[in-house]
Amino acid sequence: MTIEMTVVHSIEALQGMLDRNKREGRKVGFVPTMGFLHEGHMTLVKQAREHNDIVVMSIFVNPAQFGPGEDFEAYPRDAKRDASLAKEAGVDILFMPTPEEMYPLDGGVRILPGPQSKVLCGASRPGHFDGVLKVVLKLFNIVDPDRSYFGMKDAQQLAIIETFVRDYNLRTSIERVPIVRDQDGLAKSSRNVNLTEMERAEAPVIQQALKKGALLFNKGVSVDEIEQEIAAFITENSSGIMDYVSLLSYPALTEWDGSSDEAILACAVKFGKTRLIDNTIMSTKGWLTCSE
Ligand code: PAF
Repeated sequence: MTIEMTVVHSIEALQGMLDRNKREGRKVGFVPTMGFLHEGHMTLVKQAREHNDIVVMSIFVNPAQFGPGEDFEAYPRDAKRDASLAKEAGVDILFMPTPEEMYPLDGGVRILPGPQSKVLCGASRPGHFDGVLKVVLKLFNIVDPDRSYFGMKDAQQLAIIETFVRDYNLRTSIERVPIVRDQDGLAKSSRNVNLTEMERAEAPVIQQALKKGALLFNKGVSVDEIEQEIAAFITENSSGIMDYVSLLSYPALTEWDGSSDEAILACAVKFGKTRLIDNTIMSTKGWLTCSE
């Protein structure tokens, strides 16, 4: 369904529109993104559409969450294509601020995520989650959404944001949305477009490895062995270079000792210049599949 969508670039204009809607009692669902939209984002919008009166999507490639030498410049961007996809998906207000609008001043105040940010991507990308929380808090304050939608592909990000919202009484609920995959199992990601043809053909090895790992977990195989098996499977069956593979409790992201209800098996693999992440959440009460 194609509906009317308003594109706004300024915080003031966005808040003016939202204030009017909120006064009239409308519930606001929020989908924060960095753009180059794909079906994963469309699923977030679909859920937001179902449970709210107004759907706001932000598109902002946040410089604060990229470290030196990371792919900030190479991150794919296409504002025109994104606006058309957002409209088709049912977004009411598309917020596309410039870096100057989002970060006009830096007074030096920092938000420091806790221990959940020290493992997995946080260990490989120091400061990454500081930058994520910085922009997410700003966006939550700007939009003041009733519900905010995040994909499970970034399961660590989601867990850290859930903790942030709980610890700081932020007034939005956080809605977890399952990973969306291509037919061959590769998790949808804006970065997939940067893969060469050969890398794209090899990349589904990540989900295959995670599935193997989940089966081993179900059989009671040790954490070390599972992590080794996954790394070996990926390196033997592709040109991918392992960044990390790790099995931890979820959402605490502490060492797995069998006492929590859920575990995460997560990995990051580099194909050429493109770093891909994926995970599966496994329950001790019967496991959820990789596509969850
Ligand atoms: O997941 C993302 O796309 C980004 O990390 C987010 C949450 C939009 C913050 O920039």
